[in-house]
Order: sequence, then structure tokens, then C-alpha cells
Amino acid sequence: MEFRHLGRSGLMVSEISYGNWITHGSQVEEDAAHACVRAALDEGITTFDTADVYAGTRAEEVLGRALKGVRRESLEIFTKVYWPTGPGRNDRGLSRKHIMESVNGSLRRLGTDYVDLYQAHRFDVETPLEETLRAFDDLVRQGKVLYVGVSEWSADQIARALKIADEMGFDRIVSNQPQYSMLWRVIEAEVVPLSEREGLGQIVWSPIAQGVLTGKYLPGQPPPAGSRATDEAGSGFIDRMLRDDVLRRVQELRPVAADHGLTMAQLAVAWVLQNPNVSSAIVGASRPEQIRDNVKASGVKLDGDTMRRIDEILDPVVERDPGKTVSPTSRP
Ligand SMILES: NC(=O)c1ccc[n+]([C@@H]2O[C@H](COP(=O)([O-])OP(=O)(O)OC[C@H]3O[C@@H](n4cnc5c(N)ncnc54)[C@H](OP(=O)(O)O)[C@@H]3O)[C@@H](O)[C@H]2O)c1
Repeated sequence: MEFRHLGRSGLMVSEISYGNWITHGSQVEEDAAHACVRAALDEGITTFDTADVYAGTRAEEVLGRALKGVRRESLEIFTKVYWPTGPGRNDRGLSRKHIMESVNGSLRRLGTDYVDLYQAHRFDVETPLEETLRAFDDLVRQGKVLYVGVSEWSADQIARALKIADEMGFDRIVSNQPQYSMLWRVIEAEVVPLSEREGLGQIVWSPIAQGVLTGKYLPGQPPPAGSRATDEAGSGFIDRMLRDDVLRRVQELRPVAADHGLTMAQLAVAWVLQNPNVSSAIVGASRPEQIRDNVKASGVKLDGDTMRRIDEILDPVVERDPGKTVSPTSRP
């Protein structure tokens, strides 16, 4: 496993990290969840990503139990705040009240005194940005949070946050967590250039497009049994990518992967890691052998001809519109 700095910060993260959205506390049983975390640790992953909202807060508990007994200093644990965690009006968003309450819940469920990175899971249009950033800064001073970041914020929102932090002397955000894969490149036009200038790193989610880039979903065929597309909690998220035109193009990547001795999943993860602004690719896994497969993408170099070949194959189905980075227009 190779390691990278989280943006321009001093924190090192494994360039492949493990995330537990959809899986822990929901799609997979506790044993399978623990086996995936064990496999991740065995393969050298030290960075783990979760969120207060995953599986109605159960995902953090599962991760906390799975990591119990592992030396805390050898781990980087990331979580997030914004999406609803309870029925109340204040159980959501980025108000000072919810941030302070949610972080305490996350620490309790994860069984740790601090998280390495605390992320605003979306932009909250109903809270002044200064209120959010001051609350984040207070958490850093309290030692509950070591670094702060955001997720799915637009370049404009990130720039506004950096300006306020600089004016007020708040801790600066060091990372953004966007969706990024061969198929979804909406950060390349605006978010990445700004982040390079300002020292933020991307921790990218769904680098395998939730499984689509493994090539296991075939055009015109029902999804394979036991896959995310057949899962009650997961299918609603992956369905929009299961279009025949996309799946046909993905099958055309098979010879590209084979020419490099890679599996399709490894090619997908290696592709996002070619972008130097990416600090880590967060992969998910419903079984340990997937993690063992995916981590072999660490350190793989893809040459210019290979990158161009991939572009030629996928071009008609790639999403590049920076306007697709959106947060809800009111609190969920
Ligand atoms: N910030 C955000 O808003 C946000 C949003 C989404 C995700 N995330 C983060 O990103 C993490 C990863 O997202 P993701 O799970 O969508 O990532 P992903 O790595 O693109 O997809 C993972 C899923 O693909 C399938 N898969 C993975 N490797 C495979 C292999 N080698 N062979 C066959 N199938 C394989 C598995 O699903 P099946 O076995 O069930 O098919 C697995 O659960 C999340 O856990 C979370 O931490 C963040």
C-alpha cells in the first residue's frame, strides 16, 4: 500500500481507503463487515471512512466494533455530518447545535476520543457558513477532530469557506470528498484546479462506480445475485448508472485491463489514482475478496496511451458537467 498526504496537510492516508456506506449495518451481516475490515487492515489500508447517517447511525457502530483493539495511532478515521440522524428539526444540517451533538454521537458509536477528519457531508444553505466553520474550528481546539473537510461542495462554496477561514483565523478545510470515477469526472473542470491552488486533496468516492466498472453488470441482463443492484438499500443508488449504453462501453474496457494484467476493478481504482490531486480512493466491499482485489491498484501507473484509450472508449457516456456538484436547495 502506498500513502499520500491529505492535501497539503501533514496527515498521511493510505491511497486506497475503505468506506462502509450501504454495507455495514445494512447490506451485509456483522461477520462479513468485520471480515472486510480485517482484510483491509491486512492489505495495509489504514484509512476508514463512514458517516453519522449511514444505516441510520449503525454503520459507525459496526466500524467501531470492527476496529476495536487496533492501535488508534495506526488508523485514520473519517466521518461526516449533515444528513438527518433523527426526527427533529435540528437533527440535520450544519448548525452549531447539530455539529456539536452529532460529533459526540459519532465518537461514542466509533468508540474513539477523536476522529482524524470531520467532513461536512453537503453544503447547508440554511446555516451561515461562518457558524459552521466556527463550530468546526472549536472541535479542532477541543481535540475531538484533528482536521476538517467537506464533501460534494462546489468550487465556489469551497472558495467562500477558505476566504472566511483566512479572515477569521479558523482552521482551513484540507479536503473535499466528491464522487469521481472514469464515468463521473465533474470535479475536473473547477474543483480540482481550485483545490490544487489552495492545498486541498480529494478523497474520492465510488471509484468503481458502485461496482459498475467491475464489468459484472451486463447490458440487457438482470444484475448478478447478491450485488448492490439487487440490495434493497443499495439498488436505488446504483440504478441510474445501469444504462445499456454505459454497460456496453464498460465491457469494451476488458482488453485494456487485460493488457495491463489488471482486473476491471483494479483498472478503475488505478485510474482515479493517476490524478495527483486525489489523496485517497475510498472503495467499498461487500466481501473480503473484493478488498483484496481492489488494493492491488495501489502504485499502478497507467501511461498516456492507456489513458487516451480509456477516454476514447468511454467518451460518449462520461459525465463532466461541473454543475452536477449539487447540495440540496433546502435541508433534507
Ligand atoms: N460523501 C458522500 O456523499 C459519499 C457517497 C457515497 C459513498 N461515499 C463513500 O465512498 C465509499 C465507497 O463508495 P462505494 O461503496 O459506492 O464505492 P465503490 O468502490 O465504487 O463500490 C463498492 C461496491 O462495488 C462492488 N465491488 C467492489 N469491488 C468489487 C470487486 N472487486 N468485484 C466485484 N464487485 C465489487 C461491491 O458491491 P456488491 O458486492 O454489493 O455488488 C462494493 O460494495 C462509501 O463507503 C463511503 O465511505 C461517500
